[in-house]
Amino acid sequence: MLYLYSPDQQDVYLRLLKDALPDWPIACWPEEADAEKVRFAVVWSPPKDFFARFPKLQAIFVLAAGVDALLRRGDVPQDVAIVRLTDAGMAQQMTEYCLYGLLHYQRQMDIYLQQQKAAQWIQQPARLADSLRVTVLGLGQLGTHVAHDLKRLGYRVSGWSRRPREIDGIACAHGEAGLRALLPETDVLFSVLPATPETRHLLDAKRLDLLPKDSAIINAGRGSLIDQNALLACLDKDRLRFALLDVFVEEPLPENHPFWRHPRIILTPHVAADTVPEEAARQIAASLRTLAEGGAAGSLAGFVDRARGY
Ligand code: NAP
Ligand code: GLV
Repeated sequence: MLYLYSPDQQDVYLRLLKDALPDWPIACWPEEADAEKVRFAVVWSPPKDFFARFPKLQAIFVLAAGVDALLRRGDVPQDVAIVRLTDAGMAQQMTEYCLYGLLHYQRQMDIYLQQQKAAQWIQQPARLADSLRVTVLGLGQLGTHVAHDLKRLGYRVSGWSRRPREIDGIACAHGEAGLRALLPETDVLFSVLPATPETRHLLDAKRLDLLPKDSAIINAGRGSLIDQNALLACLDKDRLRFALLDVFVEEPLPENHPFWRHPRIILTPHVAADTVPEEAARQIAASLRTLAEGGAAGSLAGFVDRARGY
C-alpha cells in the first residue's frame, strides 16, 4: 500500500497517483490505513511522528528535489530508502530563474532602476552574452540543464561539482582548488547546490572576496550556502552589484530580516522551480513500478545517498 501526505495538494496528487497506478491501494492523510500494509510513502513535510506509524515502510518518495529538511529530522529509519524528484519539470524553471537574474545583470536593470529614481538618462555600455562569465555551482539534474541552456544562448559557462565532471561546452571544475580558481573568473554566480554539511557557508567572507568587483550572485539552491553577514558586508562595500535570492536559512524569511529592505537584494519566496504535480506523479509511479517488479531502490535516478546528504 502507498500512503500519501501532501495536505496542500492532496487531491491533486491522489488523483494523479490513482490514474498512474490504478491497481495500487492508496491511502492519504488523515485517513487511518492498515499501518502494517503500508510499504511506500509519498510525502511533503510530514509531521514528526509520521514514519514511526508504518513499521513495514520500504521507501519514501519526497515531492521535492532537495531532501535536506527530511534528513535533518533524523526520524527516517536507516533501512528505508529515500527517493527524491529528478527534474520533474523543475529544470526548465531553474533556467528561467537564472536567466531572469542574468539578464538583470547583463542588461544592467539594477543600474537603470537606480537611474530612474534620480531621473538620470545615461546609456550604459552594452554587454554581450559571449563576454559574460557565468558559473553554475552544482552540476546535477538542475545545474546541468541550466548550464546547457545558458551555453546555447551564448554565455561563457563554467560549472562546479563535488566530483569531476565532463560536460560538452562547459568548463567543469571540482573541489576547493577548482572553486578558488573559478570565483575570480565569474561575473554571475548561480547556485543550485543542495544543503549539506559541506555546502554550509561555502560562500563565506573569504570566498565571496574572490569574486570580482561588480559581480552578482543568484542563489536558488538552499540558503545555508551563504554566510548572510558576509554577503551583507560584501553588498554594503559595493563589492557585488546585487544578489538575487530565492532560498533562506529561515523560511519564511522573518519580517525583520535585513535582506527584505536591502537595496542590492532582490528576493523571491522559494519559487525558483516549483514541483510540477503531473511530472512528479509520473516519475514516482514509474519508480514504484520498478520497485514492485523487484528493482533495487538504489538503482532509481532519485535515490538519495544519505552519507552524501543529497
Ligand atoms: P542533484 O542532481 O543531486 O545535484 C546536486 C549537485 O550539487 C551535483 O552536481 C553535486 O556534485 C553538487 N554538489 C553537492 N555537494 C557538493 C559539494 N560539497 N561541492 C560541490 N558540489 C556539490 O540535485 P538537483 O536535482 O540538481 O537539485 C539541487 C538542489 O536545488 C536541491 O537539492 C535543492 O536544494 C535545490 N532546489 C531548489 C528549488 C527552488 O525552488 N529554489 C527547486 C528545486 C531544487 P556531484 O555531481 O559531484 O554529485
Ligand atoms: C525545492 O526547493 C525542492 O527542493 O524541490
